[in-house]
Amino acid sequence: MHFEWYHKVGLGILAAFWLAYASNYLGDALIHAKAMETPAYAAEKPEADEAKAEDKTETAAADDSLAMLASADAGKGAKLFGKCKACHTTENGGKNKVGPNLWDVVGRAKASGAGFAYSGALKEKGGEWSFADLDAFLAKPKGFVPGTKMAFAGLKKPAQRAAMLAFLRSLSDSPKALP
Ligand code: HEC
Repeated sequence: MHFEWYHKVGLGILAAFWLAYASNYLGDALIHAKAMETPAYAAEKPEADEAKAEDKTETAAADDSLAMLASADAGKGAKLFGKCKACHTTENGGKNKVGPNLWDVVGRAKASGAGFAYSGALKEKGGEWSFADLDAFLAKPKGFVPGTKMAFAGLKKPAQRAAMLAFLRSLSDSPKALP
């Protein structure tokens, strides 16, 4: 058969329609697959992130926050202390609330605040509140002292803990030397 120019045009138009249809169909299929993926991904991600954060608090993070301590801003720590205020006072001779008064807590023997009923777990922990111990406790209270009465999830970010340690250190007439 002789192939006329209008045959080519006709075939071309057919092919164009077919392509448009096919890509539309494929596009829908892809979007649909994405939509199915998203919820599973969303459900998974925070866990993965938490696991990562957990790793950090367990290992590198303690060094991170202690290394940041020298340049940490006690003022930022004072602001962050809003998270702790419901349970702790900070002034010299301040009263105990749900938790003990924290004046001069850096370097103080653990569980030794006057007139506060500490948990057996914290009393048994022993030793003084060094910067490193405070850092570990504040990162995850129940991780450092399983059975502690302090119902607080923890300050996950090393920079936050560095600021908090700088603030706690300032609660003293003679702040302890930096580590
Ligand atoms: C929901 C109340 C609550 C919150 C919020 C809380 N704490 Fe506590 N905290 C406690 C209790 C209760 C204890 C005593 C723990 C024990 O006996 O096991 C404690 C103990 C402590 C200790 C040990 C004191 C000592 O004398 O040995 C430090 C340090 C401390 N908290 C710091 C903080 C900081 C900093 C924050 C905020 C980031 C905070 N806490 C948030 C209730 C709280």
